Amino acid sequence: MMSPSVSPVMPDYDSARATFNWQQARARLAGLPGGGVNIGYEAIDRHLLEGIGEHVALRCISREGTTTTLTFAQLADLSSRFANTLDALDVARGESVFTLLGRCPELYATVLGTLRAGRVLCPLFTAFGPEPVRLRMDLGEARVLVTTRALYDKKVAPVRARLPDLRQVLITDPGDGPLPVGTSSLPELMAAAPCDFTVAATDTADLALLHFTSGTTGSPKGAMHNHGAVLAHQVTAAYALDLREGDVFWCTADPGWVTGMSYGIIGPLTLGVTTVVDAGDFEPRRWFTVLARERVTVWYTAPTALRMLMRSTPGGDAVTPREEYDLSALRFVASVGEPLNPEAVRWGEEALGLPVHDTWWQTETGAIMIAGFAADPVRPGSMGRPLPGVEAAVLECGNDDRATVTNGHVRIAEAPGARGELALRVGWPSMFCGYLHDRRRYEACFADGWYLTGDLVTRDADGWYWFVGRSDDVIKSAGHLIGPFEVESALMEHPAVAEAGVIGRPDAVAGAVVKAFVSLRAEYTAGEELRRELLAFARKRLGSAVAPREIEFEPDLPRTRSGKVMRRLLRARELGLPAGDLSSLQTSGNASDRSGESEDRR
Ligand code: WT7
Repeated sequence: MMSPSVSPVMPDYDSARATFNWQQARARLAGLPGGGVNIGYEAIDRHLLEGIGEHVALRCISREGTTTTLTFAQLADLSSRFANTLDALDVARGESVFTLLGRCPELYATVLGTLRAGRVLCPLFTAFGPEPVRLRMDLGEARVLVTTRALYDKKVAPVRARLPDLRQVLITDPGDGPLPVGTSSLPELMAAAPCDFTVAATDTADLALLHFTSGTTGSPKGAMHNHGAVLAHQVTAAYALDLREGDVFWCTADPGWVTGMSYGIIGPLTLGVTTVVDAGDFEPRRWFTVLARERVTVWYTAPTALRMLMRSTPGGDAVTPREEYDLSALRFVASVGEPLNPEAVRWGEEALGLPVHDTWWQTETGAIMIAGFAADPVRPGSMGRPLPGVEAAVLECGNDDRATVTNGHVRIAEAPGARGELALRVGWPSMFCGYLHDRRRYEACFADGWYLTGDLVTRDADGWYWFVGRSDDVIKSAGHLIGPFEVESALMEHPAVAEAGVIGRPDAVAGAVVKAFVSLRAEYTAGEELRRELLAFARKRLGSAVAPREIEFEPDLPRTRSGKVMRRLLRARELGLPAGDLSSLQTSGNASDRSGESEDRR
C-alpha cells in the first residue's frame, strides 16, 4: 500500500492555503537514508521501499503504437544501469549530462540515472537545429550527450568539432551498422553495467537540473534547479494537477522543456502514479485514442494543442470526440505555457466533458505557482490562484512595465483590477538557484524579497489572476519561448543580411509565429528568391522550432538612439497600431510596452 503521506487527500482551496507550510510538507519526502534529498530517490527508490515496486510507473507507446510498461522496480534497474555507466565513463559529480531525445524509455533511464548519481541533467528540444543545440551544450559544458542516431547525424555531427568538452555521446538506437566515430552504444554500455546502485549522497542545495530559457538579449539563460525542488514538484502535482493514487497521467509537453521534466517525469513518479508516455507526434485521432485506450484520468496539455484539436474535431463538426472515443476515465484536464483562451475552456466542456483548468509558471519557478484548483469552478480566461505555500502579488510598474523599485522597495498594487508585474515571495523549494555563469541577470530578477516574473497581470477582487502580457520581447510560439536575439544572430550570419529585427506575429493557433524583418547589405537586392534562401538558411541552423516562419525586407529598420533595432515598433506596425499606443500593444499576448532602449533586466 502507498503511504498516505505520498498522496494527500485534497482539501478545498481555502483550507489548503490556510494550513499549508513547506516545513511541514517536507515530511512527505522520504529523504535519503543517511539524510539529504535526491529527486531520483523520491521518484523511484522510495516506492520500492514502500512495497509498490511492482506498480506500473510508465506506459510507453512507441511511434508504431505498441505499448511497453515499466514498473518502478524496472525503472530502478534501468536508471541504476545508467548511473553505473556514468561512473564507468568517469563522469564526475556535478558534471552535466544532456539529452536530445523524444519521449522514450531511455529518456527516463537517463534522467533518473543522472539524478540518482548526483550528476546534473540538462534536456534539449529535438526541434532545435544544430546551432541552438551547440550553443546550449557549450554554455552548459556538456560532458555526456544521450541522443538517437538520426538526431546525432542531423544536429550534433555538424557541430561536434566545436564542442571540445563533450566527451561521450551515447546512442540509444545504435542499429546494426558501425556507429559514427566518437559515439558509443547506450544499450551495450547499459547491458554491461550492474543493476544495483546506491543513490549518491545529495542534499537540497545540490544542483540537479539545468533548463535553458530565452531572454530578450544575449545568450540563452541556464536556469539552475537543485534537488530540494522535488518537494515542490510533488506538492504541486498533487494540488494543481489533482494527482492521486491510482491515476493514469498524461503530460503532452515535450521532454526538452521544463514542463516535460517537472510534470512529464518527476512530479507524477514521486506520487507513485502511472504515467503515459507517447512517442508519437501530434495527431488528433492518435491523441484521442491515447486518452481513451489508456484510460487517462488526468491530462496536462497546452493551449496550442487544444486549439489544434478544436480545429480538427474527428469525424467532422457534428461529431464530438466523446461519441467516438470513450473518455469516461478522464476526470481532470489542465493547461500550461500560454494564455488559455475561454473558447478552449468551453471546447473542453463540450468535447471532453470537462472544463480545462489553467496553470501558470515559468522555467525559473520550477513548478506550478498559480492554478485553477480542481475543486473550484473554472473562471474562463483566468490563470487561477496562488497554490498553497505560494505568495503572489501585483507590483506597481513604471512606464517600462517592470516593477518600480524605490530605495530597494516595491509597492504592491492592492486595488482589484490594477495592472502590474506579477511577483512571487521568495521561499518556495523549486525556485531557480541561479542562471549559469550570470549572477547579474539572476540578481536583477529579485527585489525586496520578491521574485519578479516579467509577466503583466491583474488580480480580481477574489484573488484570481489574469494574464495581460509579457513585459519583454521574448516570443511564445506553441508554448515555447523563443529569444528574438538568437534568431536575429542566426540571420545575420548570412552574407546578405545587414540587420534583423524579430517579433512574434499573433497567430490564432500557435499564439504567435516568428517573423523577421531584414535589411540587406548594399550589394544585395530584395526578392522572392533571396527571401526563400534566408528562410531555408535560418531553418537549417535554428531548426523548425526557432526559425522564422516569415521574412519581410525592410530597408530602414527602426532603431533606438543607441542603435538597437526597435522590435516594439516593428510589432506595432505589424499589428497596425500607432507606435505610441502602448496599452493596445499589450493585448496581443506576446506584445510588449517596453522601451527598446531600456536594458534587459532578465
Ligand atoms: C512564460 C514562461 C509554464 C512552464 C512552461 C513554460 C507564459 C506560462 C501561462 C499561462 C499565460 C503563461 C508566461 C510565462 N505562461 N503559463 N497559464 N497563461 N501565460 O515555461 O518557457 O519559462 O515560459 O510562459 O509568459 O512567463 P517558460
